[in-house]
Amino acid sequence: MPAEKATIKDAGQIHRLVNFFADRSEMLPRSLAEIYENIRDFFVAREDDQVIACAALHVAWSDLAEIKSTAVAEEYQRKGYGARLIEACLKEAKELGIETVFSLTYQPGFFAKMRFQEVDKMTLPRKIWTECYRCPKFPDCDEVALVYKVEV
Ligand SMILES: CC(C)(COP(=O)(O)OP(=O)(O)OC[C@H]1O[C@@H](n2cnc3c(N)ncnc32)[C@H](O)[C@@H]1OP(=O)(O)O)[C@@H](O)C(=O)NCCC(=O)NCCS
Repeated sequence: MPAEKATIKDAGQIHRLVNFFADRSEMLPRSLAEIYENIRDFFVAREDDQVIACAALHVAWSDLAEIKSTAVAEEYQRKGYGARLIEACLKEAKELGIETVFSLTYQPGFFAKMRFQEVDKMTLPRKIWTECYRCPKFPDCDEVALVYKVEV
């Protein structure tokens, strides 16, 4: 199934999917309120009307957006769903005219496959760190930063 824009009805399933991995400290948790507020950022993939994968493109500045909350249900991993969702986010960034897309992740190998380049976290602008105060790991961040240059 291709990646589609999420609808408000997907929020509950996105919440369960993301927090399944967050409970295992594999990604950051998201509240249902945050998902509702940012529902327009999300793409989903479905099987049998169930959300089995999600990813979000969040605009940070005129030339910068972040890919967040990338999750694929365990039984559907390594089947190309993650790649399709990232491609959908990158296509939207291009349509918006945003030149740089970044990710902070515990899965740098996956993003490297998607042609992202690893960078020093400190090269990313301070503005993006506002969320970090809420992270259970703050200030001992062990996420890896990767960026993708969009041809706009
Ligand atoms: C990381 C994750 C999103 C990957 O999604 P996926 O649907 O399994 O990935 P895909 O099948 O689309 O893989 C695309 C490519 O990346 C590779 N890949 C997938 N996961 C990888 C990983 N963890 N490390 C290195 N490469 C990886 C695949 O082999 C594939 O390469 P290929 O094109 O040469 O065959 C998924 O495993 C997941 O949801 N994990 C748990 C949550 C998580 O860690 N999210 C990351 C946000 S911090």
